[in-house]
Amino acid sequence: MYGSRIIICTPYTVHHTQYIKMNMKKTILLVFGTRPEAIKMAPLVKKLQSLPDQFKTVVAVTGQHRQMLDQVLRIFDIVPDYDLNIMQANQDLYDVTSRVLVGMRDVLKEVQPDVVLVHGDTTTSTAAALAAFYQQIPVGHVEAGLRTGNIYSPWPEEMNRLMTGRIATYHFAPTPLAKSNLVKENVSEERILVTGNTVIDALYMVVDKIKNDAALQSQLRGVLKDAGYDTTRLDGSRRLVLITGHRRENFGDGFISMCTAIRDLAAKYPDVDFVYPMHLNPNVRKPIQQVFGNITQKDIKENTESNLACSNASSLDLKSAQEQALGQPFAQSCTDTQSDSLQKNVSLPKTDENGHADGIGINNNLFFIEPLEYLSFVYLMEQSTIVLTDSGGIQEEAPGLGKPVLVMRDTTERPEALESGTVHLVGTNYDKIVNEVSTLLDDAEAYRKMSQAVNPYGDGLACGRIAEFLKGKIN
Ligand code: UD1
Ligand code: UDP
Repeated sequence: MYGSRIIICTPYTVHHTQYIKMNMKKTILLVFGTRPEAIKMAPLVKKLQSLPDQFKTVVAVTGQHRQMLDQVLRIFDIVPDYDLNIMQANQDLYDVTSRVLVGMRDVLKEVQPDVVLVHGDTTTSTAAALAAFYQQIPVGHVEAGLRTGNIYSPWPEEMNRLMTGRIATYHFAPTPLAKSNLVKENVSEERILVTGNTVIDALYMVVDKIKNDAALQSQLRGVLKDAGYDTTRLDGSRRLVLITGHRRENFGDGFISMCTAIRDLAAKYPDVDFVYPMHLNPNVRKPIQQVFGNITQKDIKENTESNLACSNASSLDLKSAQEQALGQPFAQSCTDTQSDSLQKNVSLPKTDENGHADGIGINNNLFFIEPLEYLSFVYLMEQSTIVLTDSGGIQEEAPGLGKPVLVMRDTTERPEALESGTVHLVGTNYDKIVNEVSTLLDDAEAYRKMSQAVNPYGDGLACGRIAEFLKGKIN
């Protein structure tokens, strides 16, 4: 699987755990495992691979995510050298930490890299950094220095990045603010490089690709239509609110509140589409089912007849008709009141001459679809009016596209776009979400103020800077 390896014995100097080996091509091991890490590490993999005289680039994926990771690997055409394939359904933090730590032990022994690069704040990142530390291999932390100051928000990510930061020898900070957070923690400045965020490198790569290729655009429209959202709906004056959510600290009541707000906004604004590519985490899907019923666009397409029966049924009939149609229990915690509201909101889907369904909800304008591949997600984000999300990466991408972002979190480690005004924090509070989305939809001036394209997170050249730094440090 892994080809010839350069084994370097001497000369090297040891500084802490840091090996500096002289005049040899160096082996860089990049480790990642989730969708956002893959998106943000992909351009760096490509950059390092483009410098084969300087670097031997080895990629190990943990498979903390499976399908959502594979989507990214496919788009960027990356074939990992190692795949720990650790994902289990509904895994907890102990599962991920222990499986990555043990899995990486053997990969590190075999590859013997000069530097291990990890990204951001996931459990993959922290466990892989720890595994490298146990073999005294220096770690470079990409997207270093982000802080909220609250170890439970986001949880466990804030602690993950603190721990990875303590282990790391090299810190690639995306912004000057991130650098200053590290300096406050006594990280010495010569180990920190302000690079911009590699997500902007990835974004520019795909935006350019999409902009310059009409055939690709048409292909992406097809992908989105197959996924359950027909973008020709946006050809007139119809607007789009794009939604994502997955944070652990929002599981339970937070998600129920978010979903209820989305349901009521869709009822209030018939001329706006609400499109939600759902994360695959079952804890994210459960509240969606609780509030909206066990229905996705795909189900609608496949079960139009059954839904017809449902729309005319009593709440009890609705439940059993859905169970029959979907061959699985209807909305696990569906109470009578929720069933009543489902009956009001889950109306008969209309199909066009191609058999394509409208959305659900009283206005047929709510679309729950499977997670999108990066290209189609970016294409959709470009067409959106507002982005409503708890995602970290999307907070960085959307301002660059001039899209107002309402962040469904209480804190953010990315305050730069708050300062420039394109991002507002709305938490998971029902009233706040409904009010802020309504303001942006109703008040052109408020919208204009928030939709100035700014890009505090990078210029698309972060990966080149990281490669240069690595050349200097380890050659
Ligand atoms: C993880 C990261 C989070 C990051 C998020 C990006 C940690 C602790 N969390 O959270 O920082 O923001 O990824 O999306 O590292 N699943 C699938 N297929 C997939 C992906 C997930 O089925 O491709 C399901 C599985 O049941 C899995 C569950 O989602 O057990 C949770 O995945 P996990 O990586 O543990 O947590 P995320 O919430 O995705
Ligand atoms: N994204 C994607 N498909 C989707 C939703 C998001 O490709 O259906 C991309 C998005 O553009 C961003 C990244 O995934 O680059 C964000 O991942 P996520 O929200 O899962 O994680 P976070 O950034 O919060 O860690």
